Amino acid sequence: MKKLLLLGIPLFALAACDTDNLDDTAGAASVDDLAAELWGEIDGWESWDAAQGWPALSISDDGTHGDFVSILVNDVEAGGGGDGAIIVKKGYEDAEGATPKDGVTVMWKTDQYASESGWFWAKYSDDGTVDLSGEPIGCTGCHSQSEDYQTYPITSPGTAGEE
Ligand code: HEC
Repeated sequence: MKKLLLLGIPLFALAACDTDNLDDTAGAASVDDLAAELWGEIDGWESWDAAQGWPALSISDDGTHGDFVSILVNDVEAGGGGDGAIIVKKGYEDAEGATPKDGVTVMWKTDQYASESGWFWAKYSDDGTVDLSGEPIGCTGCHSQSEDYQTYPITSPGTAGEE
């Protein structure tokens, strides 16, 4: 039920969010440069491993990113995380994954970006258009409730604590 209260935040945040004001925390690379770099990094994410504790395509906890979602990780994240770790989340309208929703949301640990959450956040459309990037409160508002801003191990019924 806690989640319902939070649903109002991102709507406001998405409208008000201008990630340009985070440029000064990005060091040498701008948020736009990093978003472009990350889009290249996630090329081929479809064949990445499913995140531990999140069986390939599962019912979403709150439907924010789709009624059914897959959470996939690159080798760095699968190997324990750290600089270069990437998590991609893809939403679907059906349990079989036949009806994908447009775009992906991505979390990236990169030393190139100094952020409070420790992640660089991005939302892309399928054509690579960057819808959000940097550290928008429209992402962190929900995720900040969870350890290391990773939602799935805590909120997914039946998967928390599974090894
Ligand atoms: C309304 C709350 C909410 C907002 C806002 C939100 N998320 Fe999430 N996110 C979740 C939940 C809940 C999960 C766990 C999977 C599920 O149940 O769908 C999740 C999972 C994820 C995951 C998989 C890793 C993890 O933490 O579990 C990624 C990547 C992700 N979100 C990226 C983003 C990005 C990028 C944004 C901003 C564009 C964003 N999220 C905004 C609720 C939210």
